[in-house]
Amino acid sequence: MSSIATSIKPGRDAEIKTAPGPILLLGAPGVGKGTQAKELVKLWDIPQISTGDLLRANVTQGTPLGKVANEIMARGELVPDSLVNEMVALRLREPDTVRGYILDGFPRTLGQARWLDARLAAQPESLPVVAVSIQVNYNQLLRRITGRRICPVSETIYNVYVNPPRLEGFCDLDGAALIQRADDTEEVFKERMRAYEALTAPVVEHYRTLGRFAEVDGDRPIAVIASGIVAAVEQLRKG
Ligand code: AP5
Ligand code: MG
Repeated sequence: MSSIATSIKPGRDAEIKTAPGPILLLGAPGVGKGTQAKELVKLWDIPQISTGDLLRANVTQGTPLGKVANEIMARGELVPDSLVNEMVALRLREPDTVRGYILDGFPRTLGQARWLDARLAAQPESLPVVAVSIQVNYNQLLRRITGRRICPVSETIYNVYVNPPRLEGFCDLDGAALIQRADDTEEVFKERMRAYEALTAPVVEHYRTLGRFAEVDGDRPIAVIASGIVAAVEQLRKG
């Protein structure tokens, strides 16, 4: 895994370290939202809130939400807004979100976006959201999804083609056996892409129209993309 810590000048990000505020990472399945969120967490010391990760935790724990979400996720469809919004609302009540947070994979429908906008509007002390949309072409996405492996302990994200662990099948950090997500098949990826085009692409347009929006090319090295996101967020926070 590469790190951006050395590529960002300490003085330059000091200002945003005081309050990055709410940041949305938008983009298709496999575009690198989780990978980038983890880089930004290291830099800004605010939490990553991945609705996919939260839902998978509910599935593993066998909660009522997890029981409903399991089959929907296995099909590559979206979990109903009311359930996801409630889950996000609970997470946003945690004290670690006070200086800001990175929403990874949320909002994913216009209903979720309107819910979030209304929630933030009701909190005048909150900074407005900054939305960053990551772009990667279809063939690259498919390769990223089918090549992805995850450490169940450290949650480090690898890719057997472009970002492999040093020892095949095992995490560099803790030696745990890597796992593959159940929905990381070509068939389910196609359905996730259909859901993205139909329901999430309008969310990207929603935030483009609102402003405080940036688009970044996700087909570059991880550290370069992260530096681009940091620069875009700093610029948008000034505006
Ligand atoms: P979720 O877990 O959010 O899946 P997703 O959106 O399909 O996105 P991914 O996690 O697959 O990809 P990513 O963009 O995080 O990429 P990553 O960094 O891992 O959602 C799963 C399911 O949960 C949904 O289908 C739905 O059912 C449900 N759900 C979740 N949120 C919901 C919501 N809000 N509403 C309703 N339902 C919801 O990277 C991918 C791979 O690429 C890795 O192998 C990585 O190593 C590699 N990679 C990353 N960056 C680079 C790079 N720059 N160069 C080369 N390789 C790279
Ligand atoms: Mg992810």
